Amino acid sequence: MAIATDDATATRAAAGGAEKRAYVRQIFSEIAPRYDLLNHVLSLNIDRIWRRKAIADLDVGRNPDGRYLDLCAGTMDVSVAIARTAGFRGSIVSADFAEPMLRNGRDKIGASRIAPVAADALELPLASESFAGAIVAFGIRNVAGLDAALSEVHRVLEYGGRFVILEFSRPDSDLLNSDYQQYFTKILPRIGALVSGHPTAYSYLPESVELSDAR
Ligand SMILES: C[S@@+](CC[C@H](N)C(=O)[O-])C[C@H]1O[C@@H](n2cnc3c(N)ncnc32)[C@H](O)[C@@H]1O
Repeated sequence: MAIATDDATATRAAAGGAEKRAYVRQIFSEIAPRYDLLNHVLSLNIDRIWRRKAIADLDVGRNPDGRYLDLCAGTMDVSVAIARTAGFRGSIVSADFAEPMLRNGRDKIGASRIAPVAADALELPLASESFAGAIVAFGIRNVAGLDAALSEVHRVLEYGGRFVILEFSRPDSDLLNSDYQQYFTKILPRIGALVSGHPTAYSYLPESVELSDAR
């Protein structure tokens, strides 16, 4: 099904439900080939530091032989960083419902113990209590059905398993907030559209952050 990617669709998608699910899946499938480049450019490479910090919170050292879930894994940067953690001997399942995102990350995973799985966070095809920990980076605000996704994560985690969420939000300081708003709502969508060739995907990003802040 082709989905019109105009501003009205983006706004309806940001409101939630099945339309949001279809829209999010569509935009990530379309921007997949440029996703990594845009991530690093738009965040001035700070995204790597944020992911590293989130992975430190996951603390795979508690169970270095365990199985970990990278939810909304995209091009699998988080999975690869976990696999490279010193002393890690476990395995990682990288789940995402936009297959082109997983495909575009395939070259990164090499022979590591990372298994990409095309799956919806709302209905994970994964056994209950089978993961030592789970992480979702920049994905949870995109999920249409937050309660269902959280309950799925809870189901697949072993008792005592840790769940880490890395997500955008607005700075507390008013001064920073105005610069941030300027960048996020004016500059980022323009660079995003130019590099990705996608008219609305990078306008959806600030909208989705606004919405998740309001929840
Ligand atoms: C901004 S990307 C983040 C990718 C990656 N975690 C990272 O750190 O770069 C968000 C990802 O969430 C995925 N996603 C959104 N909703 C999903 C859902 N319901 N089930 C599975 N994946 C979902 C999208 O397909 C996209 O790849």
